[in-house]
Amino acid sequence: MLKFLITAGPTREYIDPVRFLSNDSSGQMGFALAEAAHHAGHSVTLVHGPVASVPPAEVALIPVVTALEMESACQREWPGHDVLIMTAAVADYRPAKTFATKHKRAGANWMLELTPNPDIVAGLSRKKRPDQILVGFALEDRDQHRNAEKKLVEKGLAAIVLNHPAAIGSTENEIEICLGPGNWSPRRRGSKKDLAKELVVLAAHLHTAVGPAAAPLDSR
Ligand code: CTP
Repeated sequence: MLKFLITAGPTREYIDPVRFLSNDSSGQMGFALAEAAHHAGHSVTLVHGPVASVPPAEVALIPVVTALEMESACQREWPGHDVLIMTAAVADYRPAKTFATKHKRAGANWMLELTPNPDIVAGLSRKKRPDQILVGFALEDRDQHRNAEKKLVEKGLAAIVLNHPAAIGSTENEIEICLGPGNWSPRRRGSKKDLAKELVVLAAHLHTAVGPAAAPLDSR
């Protein structure tokens, strides 16, 4: 039995108390993975952004709103887990300044300054123990294989799942899995629930390949 940390859904980056930057991620892929891992007998912590659909009730849920909140929840949880599957559609930027009160409409253009959010999975990868593995998702609309391979290497992932913008909000997905530059699985299409079962098996297999955690010295 492994401990899975899974992220799902979008983050929201508030401009003022009523407006935010976000994306259309429904969280369904992450929820399907959490369910599949739970049904396969693993323990699951699911960190999820704000979504309309109801997250699976059987797993430990950590709701968050912003990328910075998702980052701190993941950093806190990561040491206690074996496998991270990062499906969250993290907003890459947040407003440099959040207005304390509702911004008033005016006739002129409004320049909104954005500041980059941290790359959450890359940060967790830098703190990875040898017995932990990370699996990422790549949403690409051009140069798909090249971009996904670059993310796999730069973010220190054991695998990256390539999918396409059509996956957002859909119950279906079409994926290819990359385990290293030039090492791609054939493309497959199916329900997010079925694909999730396969991905959980793959993640557990990749974890077996890196070996178990070293036993504490006093138990040897
Ligand atoms: N990711 C992350 N933190 C971010 C952005 C992305 O942890 N600030 C993770 C995603 O959850 C996913 C992987 O990185 O597992 C790739 O995300 P993607 O949005 O495809 O790529 P980006 O790194 O954001 O690059 P770009 O948007 O420029 O393609």
